[in-house]
Amino acid sequence: MAVGYGDEKKLSSEERDLTMARQSLIEELGAINWYQERIDTTTDAELKKILEHNRDEEKEHTAMLMEWIRENDKTQDKMFKEHD
Ligand SMILES: [Fe+2]
Repeated sequence: MAVGYGDEKKLSSEERDLTMARQSLIEELGAINWYQERIDTTTDAELKKILEHNRDEEKEHTAMLMEWIRENDKTQDKMFKEHD
């Protein structure tokens, strides 16, 4: 399996977990974009509401992953506090 799915043999177990979390974060952000595009495209009000709800759940998932990454990647955590 490709890097990003946690199956890279060269990575330590900590880095494997971080890699999986980062890949999951990418996928959650991609899902937000897909939902937003569909929200902006649909003409059905009920479907729009469902999609908006689902998009916001993906934002929650994004936040959960970001928090986990911050807790487990000290450099990344530092960058949240010290970036330009
Ligand atoms: Fe999600």
